[in-house]
Amino acid sequence: VTSEDHGLSRRAALGLLGATAVGAAGAGYGLRAAGAGADSPESSVHSFYGRHQAGIVTPVQKHLYFASFDLTSSATRDDLKTLLSDWTEAAAEMVAGEEVGETGATDGGPHLPPEDTGEALDLGAQSLTVTVGLGPSLFDDRFGLADQRPEQLKPLPSFAFDLLEEEISGGDLCLQACADDPQVAVHAIRNLTRIGFGRAQIRWAQLGYGRTSSTSRKQTTPRNLFGFKDGTANIMAEQDDALDEWVWAGDEAPAWLRGGSYLVTRKIAMLIESWDRQRLEEQEQIFGRDKLEGAPLSGGEEFDDADFAMKNTDADLVIPSTAHVRLAHPDHNDGVRLLRRGYNYVDGNNELGQINGGLFFMTYQRDPANFATVQRSLADDALNEYIRHIGSAVFAIPPGVKPGQSWAHGLFD
Ligand code: HEM
Repeated sequence: VTSEDHGLSRRAALGLLGATAVGAAGAGYGLRAAGAGADSPESSVHSFYGRHQAGIVTPVQKHLYFASFDLTSSATRDDLKTLLSDWTEAAAEMVAGEEVGETGATDGGPHLPPEDTGEALDLGAQSLTVTVGLGPSLFDDRFGLADQRPEQLKPLPSFAFDLLEEEISGGDLCLQACADDPQVAVHAIRNLTRIGFGRAQIRWAQLGYGRTSSTSRKQTTPRNLFGFKDGTANIMAEQDDALDEWVWAGDEAPAWLRGGSYLVTRKIAMLIESWDRQRLEEQEQIFGRDKLEGAPLSGGEEFDDADFAMKNTDADLVIPSTAHVRLAHPDHNDGVRLLRRGYNYVDGNNELGQINGGLFFMTYQRDPANFATVQRSLADDALNEYIRHIGSAVFAIPPGVKPGQSWAHGLFD
């Protein structure tokens, strides 16, 4: 339901009334409105349009619903093109806090299934962003896109300790929905899935709760399921130079992708019960940071630089050679930096009554090879005893759009 067609829908009006001014600095995303409830970030509305897609440097919202899709066996190039344009239109409506389609959840009359499934009515936009990605398999011989595959977009290499499960890995397309309310994120994926019916189907999906990263200095640093502050040394929305250098695809990318990025997702199970039996001192040495403040073990405060050369009186490294932050740090990886945007997940429990939980790790980078550089370094990570990488995927993330354009339109122009 667009405001031009129907006047401002009741639901959009409610969403806008509650909207607050939580900016996405550096991304050029304005917010549509500011009003009542200015101290409640829950109901802010992000702009769908911009040079880059929202959902990358946008301050990380509280909840995630992520879905990977395969095109159906009968889908044609034209189906793919129309799917992307139908998704763009519906995503723009939902991000604005509007109902999907001309007639929304209730205006289509009693004799048709509603265009919008309705479970997000009255919730407002809840900072929703929807971000689309294209997997390497989309560029095989099915859709005439093989010539447009970016050189950098290929399946990731295998890594030490990989225990990847095929059925929760890969995919032709992905949609990342982030919002401050889980129902709004699920509603977005559900409605886009419904629109894709007959053209694409979900291959795997992941619900994430509790961000494990900040992407803005204005956010506090959250904690992961091991109880440590996570996201301290992340690339932040305010760091334009670092974003240009490490996140946004530039001239090396085909024209259709410039201003976009690459997303790597890794579903990482965390052996929570084993971790919980570990001494605090050991836990801190595994990460190389202290648990309460998140400061490097070499001293100072959370955001101070680590001194990786510092030794204690026994002449041992204060931040051990196997510490996660040492091995993941740019100094150890030819300067490589990643923009992390992960979420905690819990998928119930296993037959031993242990928590099936972990980190749904997501990073955005200019080249997936940068993720591989860091992940290879982590082969020596003391953390490996407590984690298992069980799912993996990589996607090219097209740039943002202007009103009237469709996601990845450059592929078909
Ligand atoms: C379950 C798995 C993981 C957990 C629990 C975890 C947790 C953490 C924590 C607590 C920090 C320190 C605070 C911070 O700067 O954010 C950190 C830093 C970092 N992690 Fe991880 N991490 C995991 C997996 C990974 C993976 C797979 C990668 C990339 C391949 C990665 C890359 C990084 C980077 C680049 C840093 C910043 C290092 C620095 O510059 O100081 N992490 N992680």
